[in-house]
Amino acid sequence: MSSTGKRYRVQRSGPLRGSVRVPGDKSIGHRSLIFGALGRGRSHITGLSEGLDNRATAGAFRAMGVAIETGSEATEVHGVGLRGLRMPTTVLDCGNSGTTMRLLSGLLSGQGFGARLVGDESLTRRPMGRIIGPLRARGAHIAGTSGAKADELYPPISIAPLVEGESLRGIEYDMPVASAQVKSALLLSGLYANGVTAVQEPVLSRDHTERMMLALGVPLETAGSSVVLDPTAEWAGGWDPFEWHVPGDPSSATFPIVAAAMVADSQVSVEDVCVNPTRTGIFDWLRLIGANVAHRPSGHGAGDEPMAEITITHGSTRGAVAGGELIVRMIDEIPAVCALAAVANGVTEIRDAAELRVKESDRIATMAKVLDAFGVPCEELPDGLIITGGKPLRAAHIESRGDHRIVMASALLGFMAEGESIIEGAGAVDTSFPGFVSLMRSLGAPIEEEAS
Ligand code: S3P
Repeated sequence: MSSTGKRYRVQRSGPLRGSVRVPGDKSIGHRSLIFGALGRGRSHITGLSEGLDNRATAGAFRAMGVAIETGSEATEVHGVGLRGLRMPTTVLDCGNSGTTMRLLSGLLSGQGFGARLVGDESLTRRPMGRIIGPLRARGAHIAGTSGAKADELYPPISIAPLVEGESLRGIEYDMPVASAQVKSALLLSGLYANGVTAVQEPVLSRDHTERMMLALGVPLETAGSSVVLDPTAEWAGGWDPFEWHVPGDPSSATFPIVAAAMVADSQVSVEDVCVNPTRTGIFDWLRLIGANVAHRPSGHGAGDEPMAEITITHGSTRGAVAGGELIVRMIDEIPAVCALAAVANGVTEIRDAAELRVKESDRIATMAKVLDAFGVPCEELPDGLIITGGKPLRAAHIESRGDHRIVMASALLGFMAEGESIIEGAGAVDTSFPGFVSLMRSLGAPIEEEAS
């Protein structure tokens, strides 16, 4: 689904200045569509991203009989209730979106109809055993496809219906790796179970699903990194439609913010960014390495998500070690962290990030290649990277492997290199950040997009 037939031409940048808004948060967008589709009536969602990933989720619900009208101001989702989805007459195309595939697999495991979920070439290489295992353990009839690793399962995913009188069971699941997608797949399937869903994570991952369920009155309790959903508790078994605003995506805001941290004399603000603490690792990291980041609260969005205006003023930064829970709170921001590490003084060490190997690309291997092409000394570790910053960068020609965040991180490096850098596969940015080029240009960045 991700059109990659575009390339960027990037030059060394002068100061970046201005105030911008980024598209709505991708994770909150998926979930707003899901909870809107399962609500009893018409929900009104503003701020939803037009990115291809959120569109894939909307397309899947349309294929299951949910009317979704997308206007320039708002998206109206005509919810059909918890039990109102119809059997899709086509395969559900999740495009490049792992979140669509994993969350819908959980939701569809509890239905009385079957479905088949497919994805693009990149998604087809991503591991699905992590959801198929626990969903099967609670009685789902779900199968994946064998692939590169003998003990792993991949897309396409096929789900057979629960038969008359059959139900998913309760489950207590101790997750080996923190993952909001796995947790959310279990919670969504848990809405249809005849027992309790109890999930424990090693570290709390993004908690948008929990926040929304609580806002909608689903009988859920959270404590630290554990969550318990008991649909057999006193509960009417559904929720009313809602009016929600999707806050700006901190993972997208990271790119103009980190660009301003890299380019001398810059000052950039991004308005209405989601500052849910499970997502703000990048801002904590920026402060830790000496960047000037200010934060002004600006209200709340969908499911009680806090928002703020983030302002960054360029200053010198120094390398440091990133690991542990901070990595979970900035997992999608590591490509940008690597770009910044190239200009920070000294050594940046990224640890505990093996999950990066199973994102839209193997982001450890891909970033190591990108940094090397720009002339940045870098060592690849099984679970991270060691990057030595502060040396002049040379212009590079990058093959981004169709990974949106690799494309944007490469553009940041291009702003610091002497000469013109070319970044291939730039169409992938449309999965999460349509308008990236015009936003960066509005701040003064010398970046152009062309067909390849
Ligand atoms: C997401 C969870 C994260 C993140 C992804 C979006 C979500 O993945 O990397 O971009 O919306 O739940 P994992 O759950 O695999 O860590």
